[in-house]
Order: sequence, then C-alpha cells, then structure tokens
Amino acid sequence: MKVCEYQPGLEGIPAARSAISYVNGAEGILEYRGIRIEELATHSNFLETAYLLIWGQLPSPAELESFQQEVRYHRRIKYRIRDMMKCFPESGHPMDALQASAAALGLFYSRRALDNPEYIREAVVRLLAKIPTMVAAFQLMRKGNDPVQPRDDLDYANNFLYMLTEREPDPFAARVFDVCLTLHAEHTINASTFSAMVTASTLTDPYAVMASAVGTLAGPLHGGANEEVIAMLEEIGSVENVRPYVESAIENKQKIMGFGHRVYKVKDPRAVILQELAEKLFENVGYDQYYFIALELERVIEEKLGHKGIYANVDFYSGLVYRHLGIPTDLFTPIFAIARVAGWLAHWKEQLAVNRIFRPTQDYVGEHNRSYVPIEKR
Ligand code: CMC
Repeated sequence: MKVCEYQPGLEGIPAARSAISYVNGAEGILEYRGIRIEELATHSNFLETAYLLIWGQLPSPAELESFQQEVRYHRRIKYRIRDMMKCFPESGHPMDALQASAAALGLFYSRRALDNPEYIREAVVRLLAKIPTMVAAFQLMRKGNDPVQPRDDLDYANNFLYMLTEREPDPFAARVFDVCLTLHAEHTINASTFSAMVTASTLTDPYAVMASAVGTLAGPLHGGANEEVIAMLEEIGSVENVRPYVESAIENKQKIMGFGHRVYKVKDPRAVILQELAEKLFENVGYDQYYFIALELERVIEEKLGHKGIYANVDFYSGLVYRHLGIPTDLFTPIFAIARVAGWLAHWKEQLAVNRIFRPTQDYVGEHNRSYVPIEKR
C-alpha cells in the first residue's frame, strides 16, 4: 500500500472514484454527469438535475413525470416531527433545526434495506420532498405561526417559496430560485459531501447521512459563508468603504467571505451565473446598493488578491439573490442544504455500490510510555 504524506485538509488526496461531477479549477468548469453547469442552469430544473445526479442519466419524460409526482406526494411531514420542531427554541439557528429534523426522520422510517433499489429510491424521494417542508415549517413556527401545508399544484421551487410566505411567488423569482438550487446541487467531494460519505460508509441510515452532512455544511468556511457575505456587505456599508475594508482585512489576515476556493483559482462558474441572475432580478425590481458594494469588492479583491487565485465563489452572489427574494439571511444555508441534498444522495448511492468503511490513518506526534499519576499527586 502506498503511504501518503500527511496533508492538512486532505488537500489533493483522492478519497473516492466518482462519476457524479467534475471541477476544473484552473478554467472554471463545473459539470454534473458530464453536462456543463451553464447548460443545466439554462435548460434544466432542480428536480430533473437531481435525477441526473443520482441516477446518472437525464430522465425520459415519463421518468421525470413519475419522479416529480412521487416527490410531490411525499412533501408532507408527520405531525410528530412538526410538534418536535415546535419545541425548538426560536432563537436557534435553522441549520441546527434542520440537522435535528433530518436525523429525526430516521426514527419514523427506520427500515433499512441498503441493497434494495426501491428502498434507495424511497429514501431519495422522501429526503428531497421533506427537507424543504421542514425548513419552511421551522421558519414559520419560530415566528409563532403554524406551518403552511405544501401545495400539490406547485412545482418544487414555487412550492418552497409558497410555504415560506403563503403567497404564490412571482414566476421569474421562482425560476431564479430554481436555478440557484440547480447551481448548488453538487460540487464533488467538499467537506459536507465527504462527511456524508464517511457516515454512509458505516452503512447507517440515509437520514443520519444527511444529518451529518447538514451539520458540516453549517460552518462559515463552507455553506455558512453566504450569510457572512451579507453581514460583511452591511458592515462595509458603502462603495467608498470597500477599499479600506479590504486593505485592513488583508493586513489583519482576515478572510473575506465569499472569496477563495480550494479548487477554483478563477471566478467560480456558479458565481458568474448567479451574478447574471442577480442583475436580471435587479433590472426587474430595482438595483440594490449592496450590489454596487459587491461589484466594487470584486474589483478590489481581483486587484489585491487575484495573483493568489482568489476570486468570487458561489456564496458571494447567492446571498444577494436570496436577499432580493425576501429570504431571511439565516435561511441561506438551509437553502444551500435543500439543494445539496441531491449531491449528497448521489454520493451516498455511489458509495454504497463500492462501499468500504472510511478509516484513514494519522501521524502520531504524542508521547509514549508515560506513567499514570494518582490524582492526589497531581
Ligand atoms: N480572503 C482573503 N484571503 C484569502 C481568502 C479570502 N477569502 N481565501 C484564501 N485566502 C488566502 C489565505 O490567506 C492564504 O494566503 P497565504 O498563502 O498568503 O497565507 C491563501 O489564500 C490560501 O488560503 P487557504 O485558507 O489555505 O485556502 P483553503 O483552500 O484552505 O481555503 C476557503 C479555501 C474557501 C476555506 C477559503 O478561501 C476561505 O476561507 N474563504 C472564505 C470563506 C468562503 O467564502 N467559503 C465558501 C467557499 S465556496 C462554497 C463552499 O465550499 O461551501
């Protein structure tokens, strides 16, 4: 067996053979199952893309229709899950609420048949269907309202936005939201996907797999960055403040949120699409001063940090788009999770087919042969 040198963050160490997605960080290319993200963002929709990611092929019209029907049918959540969520503190972060509720699904669907394709399909459908309902339910319940039931006549994106506000969304806003989900659906082995794969490799249930991935996505160096971007734009406050803000951040070795990526050394292709979407949204409903701050920030960062390959990542513009859709900031990461469930499920399924439990090694740097000191002598 080839022994590798320790690499902090496992940078550059392959942890799987995967046919799900491909990233070329030097040229800014992202493909899902070989199809460029730009094509999917233009022609596909989130559920069709989820099918592609999980089963490897674009569905036929009949396959898509029955998949959509199944997801629609499973959108409701059990009242016991709702009641459990009602007891969550309203000050708690929605990602924590989502992690707990995703794990709780395992209590209700405890049958485990990981080698049965029907079981896999059922779990895929349930998770894609119920996670948006749980995110929307927590949002309403923490404000003291009853959750809004899903509507069977609405598609995935429209239904989620409806459950958040009890109003049918503007069709363009719903389309933009759906594209955002498509763009966030998958991104090779990042921290949360790796977390999902490690958990999956123990052959536990898919709800535990999703709960562990949600917990990992929540951190500010991963999915949590889109929230931090809005906080940073608020702190900067004006276009004039951008340059001093960046200079001070660089001097103090502070990370600028929404910039930099382990893989991309050019602008993230998803950020390019999101920026276009943000512009179209702003054309419809009026420009946002945050957008001008964001543009200036990109300019200054390119000037100061472009030589290190630090450019805008997916989280930079997604926050601006969600903010414009009226979505509260702390729901940005749960929305990322709604989308990424597709990728996590694809990796779960792929992992099961070739499973070997993850058990890396370590470089031990501690002491040896120490003696136990009785408590009264310490
Ligand atoms: N602002 C300023 N400097 C940066 C940034 C940034 N956002 N990102 C990287 N750098 C610098 C870093 O200081 C280091 O410089 P030096 O070599 O002089 O010490 C160099 O670039 C390499 O940085 P790193 O932290 O070793 O890179 P990494 O691959 O470990 O981290 C990252 C990648 C995404 C965690 C990091 O770029 C970061 O913290 N970005 C801000 C948070 C963010 O936007 N996260 C969302 C990532 S994309 C979506 C997702 O994965 O969820």
